[in-house]
Amino acid sequence: MPCLVRTPRIPLFEWLSSNAEKTTYPLAYSNITGVSYEEYLRLTGFSLPANFDLGVDHPHGYHELQKALAGIYQCSPVNIVTSSGGTEANYLVFSSLLSPGDEVIVEQPGYGPLWLTPQTLGARVVPWPRRLEQQFALDLDTLPRLLSKKTKLIVVTNLHNPSGVLIPRQTLQRVADLAALHNVFLLVDEIFLDGAPTPQPSAFGLPNTIVTSSMSKIYGLGGLRTGWIIAPEHVAYQCQSVKSHTTGASSGLSEALNASALLSARGALLERFRARTTENKSFLKSWMAANPDLMTWVEPFGGTICFPRYSADVPSLRLCTELLDSSRVLLAPGEYFFLDRHVRLGFGIDPTLLRQGMKLLEQDLRSRLKK
Ligand SMILES: Cc1ncc(COP(=O)(O)O)c(C=O)c1O
Repeated sequence: MPCLVRTPRIPLFEWLSSNAEKTTYPLAYSNITGVSYEEYLRLTGFSLPANFDLGVDHPHGYHELQKALAGIYQCSPVNIVTSSGGTEANYLVFSSLLSPGDEVIVEQPGYGPLWLTPQTLGARVVPWPRRLEQQFALDLDTLPRLLSKKTKLIVVTNLHNPSGVLIPRQTLQRVADLAALHNVFLLVDEIFLDGAPTPQPSAFGLPNTIVTSSMSKIYGLGGLRTGWIIAPEHVAYQCQSVKSHTTGASSGLSEALNASALLSARGALLERFRARTTENKSFLKSWMAANPDLMTWVEPFGGTICFPRYSADVPSLRLCTELLDSSRVLLAPGEYFFLDRHVRLGFGIDPTLLRQGMKLLEQDLRSRLKK
């Protein structure tokens, strides 16, 4: 029997997909409720030209998507690589920059693939702790000690997955300056950034900085699998070359649909996002204020997720498994973000389901305190 190459599992994804059918209260996910095709048509007014050529692919991205992204990031087409979701975007960046033995500094807690994909490529992950006690802020004093001659890349998310905290512009500027001083790159995954309550500038344009994003989380269009990289020209060129080995080109039809979403309905989609999450976030805020003995949180700046610490004396995977079995509430265990005794809680869902799910969570956590 020929040997298979071993790729690290991504336990977060396995947890989310294997439990999707078992939950009534899906509080583990990080995307806003998806946009239906009917809603999409109403918001965009899009109609596919009858002569749209379904036989042609667009390795450099469908031209209208290029145009939309060039406008948003104020960049040139040579800085843009389109991809099949944020997942491929991050993969292309990692495989363009990393070789076995290299070191990557990655925030902790953090989104699983940002640790595990570099490991697949033989790189070593050096965790950069973000602490609840410091409001999950990036600790600039620690960073210089983590850099070594082997460091190639620093990786952060903005807004932070899992806490939803914003990295202020001045902090990003200082990280990028340090990256440039040490001749390393900074990857800022901005998939949640458009979910900020007020528009925030992209980190693209800071020294040595690459950004990635997609339509999955804030826009509710993840099924179309459109993402992108915005990078200095030579990095974008390399990512484009690697893309020839992965997908070659993303779906032109998806890119056309998403181009129209960004060019003609971006404001309306962001409004839809804010309408849903503002109410849910203020409900969570009052829930946290009413239950300080059960959970401590850092209020997320925006987006769809937060990362509270619970007081019950139980590991996160056990807590989440028991809660799902007893109440059909699905949370994401903190250990899948490399920080136990926390859970990731998503609030992009229907407000009634969120309220009911939080009620059941409250009962569960309260019963544990009494034991
Ligand atoms: C920080 C971050 N980056 C990338 C992705 C992947 O995005 P996509 O669904 O567009 O592949 C996710 C999905 O959860 C994410 O949270």
